[in-house]
Amino acid sequence: MQKETLSLRLKSETASEHERMYQLMHAANVFSTKEKYTQFTLSQYYFQKQIEHLFLNPKVMAIIPDLDTRGRSDLALLDLKYLGVTPQTPYSLKEIDYPQALGWIYVSEGSTLGAAFLFKEAQKMLGFNENLGARNLAAYPEGRMKVWKRFTQALNDASFSIEQQNLVIQGALEGFEYFGELLQCIGSLE
Ligand code: HEM
Repeated sequence: MQKETLSLRLKSETASEHERMYQLMHAANVFSTKEKYTQFTLSQYYFQKQIEHLFLNPKVMAIIPDLDTRGRSDLALLDLKYLGVTPQTPYSLKEIDYPQALGWIYVSEGSTLGAAFLFKEAQKMLGFNENLGARNLAAYPEGRMKVWKRFTQALNDASFSIEQQNLVIQGALEGFEYFGELLQCIGSLE
């Protein structure tokens, strides 16, 4: 029997959390006004800051060698500047164990795929684009799919044991939970 890859396990075992994010995004109606979109961009900024904090772990670096091309907090910050908002500093960052940190990064990298739809909404509803207001939703310069496939390949190439895979999946569930909490209190982010 063919062994299920870690990337497939991540997709299937976090599918209900993805569905929940979709519902939360729908409920938050983030493209209906510039103010709501600004709050959404704040949530993106805080999430990306948390994710990029995990890039500093040497074990994470060893598995994902192209981390310097990933992460979008700098782009979210530029969007926020354009939207007239300065996020809080310092904000609190969680320490996440390895390999759970890889699951958190999975959530962030996967969200770049759905962001293709969100980018179109930001264009259509608010007139933003990759140079103005919606930089954080734009594709990576190399293209969304190419960068995504390289990420999932790196996870699969790591040949984790089932126990280690379980920890990565646990991390992804925590990452979804974290972003879900941001979405649930999106109106009060500052
Ligand atoms: C309205 C909001 C969203 C929509 C419409 C959406 C849509 C999508 C779509 C269409 C894909 C699959 C792309 C493909 O396989 O070609 C995808 C993948 C993914 N999205 Fe979302 N998404 C949304 C929100 C989010 C959020 C908020 C997160 C997490 C913060 C997220 C995390 C992911 C992840 C991790 C994957 C990769 C799944 C896999 O392993 O293949 N998404 N999304």
